[in-house]
Amino acid sequence: MTRIKTIGLLTSGGDAPGMNAAIRAVTRSAIYNGFKVKGIYHGYRGLVEDEIADLEAQSVSNIMHHGGTILKTARCQEFKTVEGRKQAWENIQKHGIDALVVIGGDGSLSGALQFAKEYDFPIVGLPGTIDNDLSGTDHTIGYDTALNTIMWCVDRIRDTASSHERLFFIEVMGRESGFLALNGAIATGAEAAIIPEISTEKDQLVELIKRGFRKSKRSSIVLVAESPVTGGAMAIAERARKNYPQMNVRVTILGHLQRGGSPTAQDRILASRMGAAAIEALMEGQRNIMIGDDDEKIVYVPFSKAIRRGDKQIDPRLVELLQQLSI
Ligand code: ADP
Ligand code: F6P
Repeated sequence: MTRIKTIGLLTSGGDAPGMNAAIRAVTRSAIYNGFKVKGIYHGYRGLVEDEIADLEAQSVSNIMHHGGTILKTARCQEFKTVEGRKQAWENIQKHGIDALVVIGGDGSLSGALQFAKEYDFPIVGLPGTIDNDLSGTDHTIGYDTALNTIMWCVDRIRDTASSHERLFFIEVMGRESGFLALNGAIATGAEAAIIPEISTEKDQLVELIKRGFRKSKRSSIVLVAESPVTGGAMAIAERARKNYPQMNVRVTILGHLQRGGSPTAQDRILASRMGAAAIEALMEGQRNIMIGDDDEKIVYVPFSKAIRRGDKQIDPRLVELLQQLSI
């Protein structure tokens, strides 16, 4: 095994608040421990197209409090091909990079796993996504900020919902996972969350109406996770209007509002801890693992587990809690 001297760092997939704090932590921990750091711009695209430059301790000054990522990010089809990854490998060799730290979601870590296997190359991942859909970690970097943004938005929509006595369906992100919708609903006192994890078993809109929502209330808020399984807020509102013409229905899609903004203290601290842990893991000879947090403790999660769909379950007690508190 080659001794690691230079570490390449990239952010990939959807940006998430806290990615900059993670970039800062990886860069500074690496330099503190005697490594050189190369920043790779635009995720895997920068590896394929050779957009690589040195990062110094001061390159990451004053970035901690900003959303987005100073390294930029992208989705790169070429990296999904054998030829694209070969090009990436040539650039890694050209720049003398001995290991990679990849900050991103399940797609980015799937790419990391593929590349690490193909070239027997050490990679450590950090879970950077607002979706919180990676297994083996309680939280992903960006999730807490997105949840707080959702709370901020829904609190404001509630004023209109209440004044006009309306039923609002509010669509939140999560790419086929209901963490943002479910916990967002609990945090805002919403009536319900329609999430993909449950949509396959039952029609949640019908259930909701059977339970008698709007019987005791004049306004209602329902959070809907974007997903082909739920159909999204537009489709659900359409059905509600057709079946219940007496309801005054409105839809809000929060969209990319949820991905931006200054990270919360929790995300900054998580990103800082995880960034430092990535360097520690490489120094211990770890490879092909994602850094996770399990009950406040740092854990190493093999990529193959981190990206396994369905391994990270919605807590049924939270589903029940939401129902109980919305009577
Ligand atoms: P996220 O990391 O936020 O889930 P994506 O799913 O869009 O975002 O993945 C980001 C990038 O990771 C993709 O554009 C692609 O370059 C790379 N990637 C995803 N899946 C694979 C794969 N199976 N093999 C190689 N690269 C992949
Ligand atoms: O994975 C993060 C995420 O924001 C998902 O919640 C959402 O489905 C997707 O990315 C949106 O991606 P895009 O940037 O292509 O609009």
